[in-house]
Amino acid sequence: MKSNQNIRSDQSWHIKNVRILDPFTGVDSAGDLYVEDGHFTDTKKSHMTVVDAHGLWAVPRLTDMHVHFREPGQEHKEDLLSGSRAAAAGGFTVVATMPNTVPVIDIPALVDWQIRRGQEIGLVDIWPIGAVTKGSRGQELAEMGMMQRAGAVGFSDDGQAVDQARLMRAALSYAATLGCPIVQHAEDRNLSQGSVMHEGEVSSRVGLPGVPGVAESGVVWRDVELSLLTGALLHIAHVSTIGSLDAVQYGKARGARVTAEATPHHLFLTDQAVADWKTHPVTKVNPPLRPESFRQALLEAVASGLVSVIASDHAPHHRDEKSAPYLDAPYGISGLETSLGTVLTALLHSGRMKPLDLLSRMTVGPHRVLMMDYPGVVAGARADLTLIDPHHRWAVDPTRFYSQGKNTPMAGVELTGRAVATMLRGAWTMRDGEVLG
Ligand code: DOR
Repeated sequence: MKSNQNIRSDQSWHIKNVRILDPFTGVDSAGDLYVEDGHFTDTKKSHMTVVDAHGLWAVPRLTDMHVHFREPGQEHKEDLLSGSRAAAAGGFTVVATMPNTVPVIDIPALVDWQIRRGQEIGLVDIWPIGAVTKGSRGQELAEMGMMQRAGAVGFSDDGQAVDQARLMRAALSYAATLGCPIVQHAEDRNLSQGSVMHEGEVSSRVGLPGVPGVAESGVVWRDVELSLLTGALLHIAHVSTIGSLDAVQYGKARGARVTAEATPHHLFLTDQAVADWKTHPVTKVNPPLRPESFRQALLEAVASGLVSVIASDHAPHHRDEKSAPYLDAPYGISGLETSLGTVLTALLHSGRMKPLDLLSRMTVGPHRVLMMDYPGVVAGARADLTLIDPHHRWAVDPTRFYSQGKNTPMAGVELTGRAVATMLRGAWTMRDGEVLG
């Protein structure tokens, strides 16, 4: 990307010769974009700074609706500043943050604080997801209504499931009155207890305790039925099994308001990575990496639209914690800075999906789940934009991450496609891989 300017947020921009891919309006066309006062405009002005974006894509509102930013309480893993930088570096303009911080985000004051701190940093819009239950302890409902008024966009006890069916039913009913989703981390802990990877041929070979897919799909089936019963919006986080996909399909066929997301790591890697990494816990994630047949089913589900969202489940951890033996290390992969490249490599360059459809999973898909409006690239809309070089080949080097979490099994993997610039409210937050601010 070439331009003749230094960066100032009050500048106006003429982004030239770009392929505009706007899943919000369905537009896929070559042209120019104009940005002034933080918004798109139809009018070209002579004082606008010209950016030559030949060969690049312009995509509005790239959104990751599932990230862990660890502040408050675990800033040694990630804080809102390092997380925001990682988001801008990865091309994102919106992230939804999971509430499993210390303390858990379960009161309006914490929701409000996260939003304000995000605005102060100014690199990405932070949309907090509040806890379903107080302290995410699974015993009594948190004050969802008050958190929503403070700006929470949905509710989840992510990191663990809302186990009790009765409580889940109540949470769904309450959320239905608020018009926002319950995001379920589907895991039967009774079944998964002590497991660290998928149960199957590879777990037997490497000698680590595994969990069968039914620990996830059993909960998804139950919750799809509860969603039908309550009429509530249910979103299944990091879906990873064939049985879960069947449950989502079953629910949709019967009119349930159920949606699901897949992560880049489940779309790109299999449980074989656990063996390839010689059981270094960099591959330890929850839900675990699955066999190839599951991965193929997930790719198919994203392509067909059964899974309408791709989200990273960005889960940064400190190096010392991720150097522990496999059984003891925490679950999670640092994903914000590899998400787009992984997804483009797995689904676009493999020929499975067309660009507009694929990008909808990271834009309009999460907006619909979270019931958030955005008009797309039209005059007057906020200029939140990512310039993507779809053909850029690069090798993942975690030492260059802006995230404090360098924990990724994608290290050294060659990907094709990445964000080369990110704009939030008309100001560049990242240019040529460098985060500004
Ligand atoms: O691998 C995971 N890490 N899965 C989760 O659900 C939680 C996350 C975390 O918070 O580290």
